Amino acid sequence: MSDKVYIFDTTLRDGEQSAGVGFTIEDKLEVARQLARLNVDIIEAGFPFSSPGDFEAVSLIAREVRGPMIAGLARAHPDDVDSCWNAVSQAETPRIHVFISASEIHMAHQLRKNREDVMEMARAAVARAKSYCEDVEFSPMDATRSDREFVYQLLQAAIEEGATTVNIPDTVGYALPQEFGELIAAVRENVPDIDRARISVHCHNDLGMATANSLSGVLNGARQVEGAINGIGERAGNTSIEEVIMAISTRGDFGHVHTNVKTDELYRASRIVERVSGMAVQSNKAVVGRNAFRHSSGIHQDGVLKLRETYEIMDPASIGIPVGDSIVLTKVSGRHGLRARIADLGVELDEEALGRVYDAFKDVADRKDEVDDRDLQAILSEQAQVQVQEQWQLDLVQVSAGDHSSPTATVRLLDPEGELQQDAAIGTGPVDAIYQAINRVMNVENELTEFSVKSVTEGIDAVGEVTIRIEASGRTYTGRAADTDILVASARAYMHALNRYLNTTAPQAAAATG
Ligand code: KIV
Ligand code: ZN
Repeated sequence: MSDKVYIFDTTLRDGEQSAGVGFTIEDKLEVARQLARLNVDIIEAGFPFSSPGDFEAVSLIAREVRGPMIAGLARAHPDDVDSCWNAVSQAETPRIHVFISASEIHMAHQLRKNREDVMEMARAAVARAKSYCEDVEFSPMDATRSDREFVYQLLQAAIEEGATTVNIPDTVGYALPQEFGELIAAVRENVPDIDRARISVHCHNDLGMATANSLSGVLNGARQVEGAINGIGERAGNTSIEEVIMAISTRGDFGHVHTNVKTDELYRASRIVERVSGMAVQSNKAVVGRNAFRHSSGIHQDGVLKLRETYEIMDPASIGIPVGDSIVLTKVSGRHGLRARIADLGVELDEEALGRVYDAFKDVADRKDEVDDRDLQAILSEQAQVQVQEQWQLDLVQVSAGDHSSPTATVRLLDPEGELQQDAAIGTGPVDAIYQAINRVMNVENELTEFSVKSVTEGIDAVGEVTIRIEASGRTYTGRAADTDILVASARAYMHALNRYLNTTAPQAAAATG
């Protein structure tokens, strides 16, 4: 009989700690809903004490999202634990996740506490969490660089106070797979009451070992794995949870384990997180990269055409990857065809949303012979962004550029009162001219920190996807848009980022963790 491995997704907490990423409340809810569709076991929705915005986001997810357990993170302080409980208490099944540093280097230089203090704080915080909530997780931060005896003592104390899950974080991504596996085995041997709790692993990817370490933990008895979609997170990121899920699904025979995840929702989860985080997934990324199932050499293509399994260890359909190239929509395709194709991609739209997507589709189809699933995904992403309340809307953008003229842009925007406002500007290039013109109309102080364009499909008529980041009032906001005209996409992406800024009330998360 195979054992279940619980999947704990921390995209919305540790994932949000990626440099330059700041989710809005709407982003968080959208990701949480997709994680529920994916059927992960636990969603760590945020760190409620860190900011009023995060408190609000965790509370909203706890109220709205059903299925997975909803966890919040708390330092081992009474106020953190209370705030965490207030945020998660309305969840169907809430969890409080308490953590405290356990390594000498963290205790001496960061916490400025000795072992006795840390032990006392851990006990008190877990006991307090338990007084509110049946399900409590405890993490000794930086466990892989901590004295093992002390880790065992902390875990035993946490279990005595009621922790139901004990997590072993490789906070700085220092461990190697064999060593990490041995640590998990040693925890099982040396913590007297370990059978009363589930062992979890939480790995970071500084040496590119996060997935391997997590699996090594599972092979040695861990039954919960923590990670983030696309592996986003602090520094080099967290464990890519989709890699662990597919490794278990493909090679569960090896460890006699399984998960309850609906793997065919993984691709969609990856695209949503890519869009809202603004962190592009590398093409050759395992499982969800655009090239993960594309075959280039003649020998491989020949093999796959004869029998897919010759060169594919996973069926792309099991990850929910659209079969793009075989189904093509053109400008003569009707609403029914479009609706059916969208349904195949696993997206449900009401009539109004379908109408908007249909108009956007027609617009692309007029400029492009064939609209395949990748174009459609870009259109759907774009439309999902329109749901972000747009205080200002782009009505027109016109650009004049060339090697013998100064790049000049005219923009016309619809302001929040529904009035049209227009201005023009000269820039160092056409995109700069557009942004200067928008700045003249909207007058929002910000700095553009990142700008990237990539084509969604091949060919000169490809849809271009523009991702930008701006900094305003000390926070980073991402904007993204797709169009066959990259200048139009650039203008929309900028408007998207500015609207997100105008919609956000949340201050930057104050307390950082690992
Ligand atoms: O990496 C880490 O140690 C963490 C803890 C809060 C679990 O994220
Ligand atoms: Zn972490």
